[in-house]
Amino acid sequence: MDINKIRNDFPVFRNEPGLAYLDSAAMALKPDCVIKAVDDYYNKLGVNVHRGVYRLSYEATDKYEEARTIISKFLNCDFEEVVFTRGASASLNLVASSYGLAFLKPGDEVITSELEHHSSHMPWFNVCEKTGAKLKYVELDKENRITVENFKKVLTKNTKVVALTYVSNVMGYITPIKEIIKLAHEVGAIVTVDGAQAVPHMKVDVKDLDCDFLSFSGHKLCGPTGIGVLYGKKHLLEKMPPIEFGGDMADTVLLDSQTYKAPPYKFETGTPIIAGAIGLAQACKYLESIGFENIINQEKKLRLKAIEELKKIDGVIIYNESCETGVISFNLEGIHPHDAASVFDNNDVCIRAGHHCAQLITKKLGTIGTIRASFYFYNREEDIDKFIKAVKEAKDFFGQF
Ligand code: ALA
Repeated sequence: MDINKIRNDFPVFRNEPGLAYLDSAAMALKPDCVIKAVDDYYNKLGVNVHRGVYRLSYEATDKYEEARTIISKFLNCDFEEVVFTRGASASLNLVASSYGLAFLKPGDEVITSELEHHSSHMPWFNVCEKTGAKLKYVELDKENRITVENFKKVLTKNTKVVALTYVSNVMGYITPIKEIIKLAHEVGAIVTVDGAQAVPHMKVDVKDLDCDFLSFSGHKLCGPTGIGVLYGKKHLLEKMPPIEFGGDMADTVLLDSQTYKAPPYKFETGTPIIAGAIGLAQACKYLESIGFENIINQEKKLRLKAIEELKKIDGVIIYNESCETGVISFNLEGIHPHDAASVFDNNDVCIRAGHHCAQLITKKLGTIGTIRASFYFYNREEDIDKFIKAVKEAKDFFGQF
């Protein structure tokens, strides 16, 4: 893989060749082809879909629905199983607000974990409060991983929903989700998977996983902001009530009754995110052209090298040394992560510091936050040199106080 050639696809790197962008878990940068796809829609079409009875609107509709076809192939599911949303958070909330509120009752159980992003577990906390269902947490192991063994301990015949992350945004651990899904199905529970940190980095085949729902955002996989996907099994989407009502989702509207379109349109109220969907489809094609094996290999290679260098520095606390994706969560002893972050910024190293919208795991780690470096396929060894230099500078600077 020629990283310099790949970096040349990204306008941000052409503008700032020296930038060490290590915050792709928060958002991935956008290649030219995605920007062009969005631009082309606005420049050449720029009209609404599903409504206009004229050529440009038909063309815009074709492009929007073609995006759905591309994404359904990317995930290995049917066209009707791809619902466009504002992002992973909106997708995860849609499942909870629709399926959860409609079908859970007192005595039912929902399983989640302390590794979840707020958007994965908070909607179910809310559903449980409203329905009287019980929220249960899988106990994390010594490394703070979700294991099949610990999952089995909380699974009962009353489990109706399992809401878990595929890859943790703080620890980067991969959940053994396929085995968990199989076990959950044996007791008749459905599984909603937070795929926000998985889909950008590995081939996710929803048929192979057999998950009931999978949520992810476009912006973490080189796509535009404001677009995401909810994959849902057709028979589940069909029985779920809509949570937003209005334009484009309605079928028949009378004074005393109303009916809705079939999925996915039942869940896409109002003018959809047309440019976002077109850009996201292009991003999926771009990632496939790079190849998921190349993506994960590059991330792992860089991460291992960075860990090796970090371990040579005194006072570095690494929280996820055994992680199998491109994430390092760490702290510098005695230094507030946000203080350290300012030194990274002065060195043109972009990282994230704080609780990463996952307060449960941050608390479990016994800290107020971590410094998180996250690698993607466009990162190179020079980025690690800059990163390590910044770590040393932060230590030297704050270590004197
Ligand atoms: N959820 C994103 C992150 O982990 C924003 O940074």
